[in-house]
Order: sequence, then C-alpha cells, then structure tokens
Amino acid sequence: MTTVPWRLRCTQTGTEYDGLDRRFYSDTGATLDVVHDLARVGEQVDLATFDARLSSKKRIDRSGVWRFRELILPVEEQWIASKPEGATNLYESSRLASYVGLDWLGLKHEGENPTGSFKDRGMTVAMSMAKRLGADRVACASTGNTSASMAAYAAEAGMRAFVFIPDGKIAYGKLAQALAFGAQTIQIAGDFDKALQLVQEVCDREGVYLLNSVNPFRIEGQKAIGFEMLQDLDWQVPDWIVLPGGNLGNSAALGKGLLEMRELGWIDRLPKIAVVQAQGANPFYTAFQKGEPLVPVQNAETIATAIRIGNPVSWQKSLRGVDASTGIVTEVTDVQILDAKAHVDAAGIGAEPASCATVAGAKRLVSEGVIQPDERVCGILTGHLMKDPDTVVQYHKGEMDALDESTRNAPVRCDATLDAVLGFVN
Ligand code: F0G
Repeated sequence: MTTVPWRLRCTQTGTEYDGLDRRFYSDTGATLDVVHDLARVGEQVDLATFDARLSSKKRIDRSGVWRFRELILPVEEQWIASKPEGATNLYESSRLASYVGLDWLGLKHEGENPTGSFKDRGMTVAMSMAKRLGADRVACASTGNTSASMAAYAAEAGMRAFVFIPDGKIAYGKLAQALAFGAQTIQIAGDFDKALQLVQEVCDREGVYLLNSVNPFRIEGQKAIGFEMLQDLDWQVPDWIVLPGGNLGNSAALGKGLLEMRELGWIDRLPKIAVVQAQGANPFYTAFQKGEPLVPVQNAETIATAIRIGNPVSWQKSLRGVDASTGIVTEVTDVQILDAKAHVDAAGIGAEPASCATVAGAKRLVSEGVIQPDERVCGILTGHLMKDPDTVVQYHKGEMDALDESTRNAPVRCDATLDAVLGFVN
C-alpha cells in the first residue's frame, strides 16, 4: 500500500515502485522518475497559487523550490530542509544580448542560491527525502558544486557527509565550501566518473544515502529553475532555454518539469531546450549528432571543471526533453567559454566557467542561424563567479588563451606615490 502521493517509475519499462522505496534503479537497472498524480496537483493549485505565494512570509513559500511543492514533492512540512533556496534574479542584459547576437536575452542567475549554485534546488528536496527516510549519513561524487551544497545542507540537518571529488580538478571555492561545512572530503585519484562509480558502491554496501542526481528527488528540485523562470516571465514561454550539460541532471529536470506543466495545461507550448557541452567533455553532443546511444568519453578535459564529465548518468532523461521540445545539443571550445565568461563578468553579472558555456552556446547557435535574433532566449547561469577565482585571475593576467585580447583586465603594479597612481587614473 502506498504511503505517499508520488511514485517511482522505471524509465525503461514503466514498472512502478512505492514513493518511499529506497532505491535509485529499477529491477532492470534503469534510472527512475518521480511520478506525480497530475490530476490531483491540478485540483490543488494553479499558477495564481504560485503568484500569491510570492508575497507570503512563510519560509516554504519564499523558497523558489517549495513554492511549487505540489509539483515537486508533496512531503509533510516537518521533513523539509530549506535554507530557503531559489528566488534568483533573471537579468536582462542588453550588453550580453548584443554579444550573443540577440534582440533580447534573459539570464537566470542560479549562482545566487545559498551555496552559490543551482545545486541547492535539487539538494533541498533530496535532503528532505534523506530526513524522511531516516538517513544519518549522505554522500555524493562531485565536480564541486554538488558537494558544497550537500555539505551545507547536511551540516544543518546534523548528518555526516562524505564527498568524493576528482583529485586536483575542482575549483578552489567549491573545495573550500566542502571543507568549511565539515564534510569528510575524499580526493579520489581519478576523474568524476570514477568517483561516481565508487560512491555508488560505497552507498550500496554501507547504506549511506546517495545524493547524486541519479537520486530522482534531486531532479524534482531542479525542475524549479524552469518553473521560477517562467514565473519571472509572467508565465510567457520563451522560445529557447539554454543551459550547460555535464552529468545532464539539470537539463533532464528542466524537460521533465516543462512537460508536466504542459500536461497540466499551464503552458501551451514548450520552449526549445538547448544543452551546451564543453568540446573536451562532449559525449551527449556526439550522441545527438549521430542519433545514436551515448558512448562515454575517456579522459574528459575542459577548463569548465564543473562539466568535466565523460559518462553522464542522465543522458536518456535529458534527451527526452530535448526531443520533445525539438531542441538541440551543441558544444563550445574552452576559449569560447572563457570569452563568454569575460563578457558575462564584465557586464557586472559574473558566473563560473561552466555557466558561461550557456552564453557561448547561445552565441554559436545564433551565428549558425539555429536561433533567430528576434527569438526570446533565456539562459541559465549555473554557478557564482567566486566559485572559481583562479580561472578569473589567470585569464586576466594573460595566463590562459583568449579569443580577444581586449577582454583582459590585468592588475597593474604601481609605486606608492600620488604621481604614480594618478598616472593610472587619468
Ligand atoms: N554548471 C555547473 C556550475 C555545475 O556545477 C554543473 C554540474 C553543471 C553546470 C552541469 O549540470 O551535471 O546537471 O548537467 N555539476 C555537478 C557537480 C556535476 O558535481 O557539482 P548537470
């Protein structure tokens, strides 16, 4: 007998499991979806409910995730672990629109979440499930942001946290967060894909609750980026939503949430989803181009360490949304990412390298005529500029390749005299 209103469904066979079944794979080994009773959701809430919650003082209404709770996870409030997250800005930057080649560009800055990345949206939901299921230990493999987020939520919930990170390949801001929030941080002598394999084995053996995006509750929380973006736009559907793809949980979530909204009749069409990969970590791009199943990339490499992933777990789920929306998967080079980042940063918005793959990807798609200049495009900036200060400083000091030297802003040395300083001011 089911105890909760949601169920878990095998993405391949459709076999269903109880919503509190502590499993991440079906009996056939496929990933799971959380399935909601949409008819019930439609009776309980509508878009006006979500708008009314914007002026509420309740914490769960202020959260840009739990504001949409009926369609995210209708769990009892006592289990909810919220900071609260979301409620991020959608920047309209004419400067960046013209860089990309568009009349209008909106950028949803997920770096404005409590731990500085979009990961908080999925984490609040999966951590609430961890509490609901009585877990006392949680773990994840991460390129940095998931571990920072998990460490923070675990610290608040009083759980022990174990993070598995690729040795030497995560940005300093993220490593600092995991350490500061008290997670046991294990630097694996291998890449993210190896770390993910190991953490899954550890969790299976030891009964530690896994908080990677193979955990379907992470995906439910991440759906809220799309919901909140549409709410920011007064429920007007943009033509495109562009976002970076690494392990592909986020794009999977975006597609799932939008499809549910359409089924509920809350939107009448889907925005096209464009997933942008880094060229050195592009298995999804290659699979999409060939129309074939994904073949993992060995030794993935990119300056955007957040998306340095060769074997993405959620590629099939992500493809569902890309296909349903007649969207696209593209790739960009590291210098294109750094150039886009220099412009995003110089616009006073700022974001970490992986986030700027969004802007680089949009620019490429406009230049190829895939996106028309007058189409309404929203991009997701996934992480804060301060996550990866090393890349910023190295770039501006000229220690990394640039497409355009004029984007550099190197610090200058100066004698400690008024005359010398005035030389730079005038
Ligand atoms: N952007 C940033 C800043 C990220 O941290 C990630 C993923 C992505 C984009 C890609 O999202 O994996 O859902 O396709 N970071 C994960 C982590 C892998 O461990 O923090 P995705």
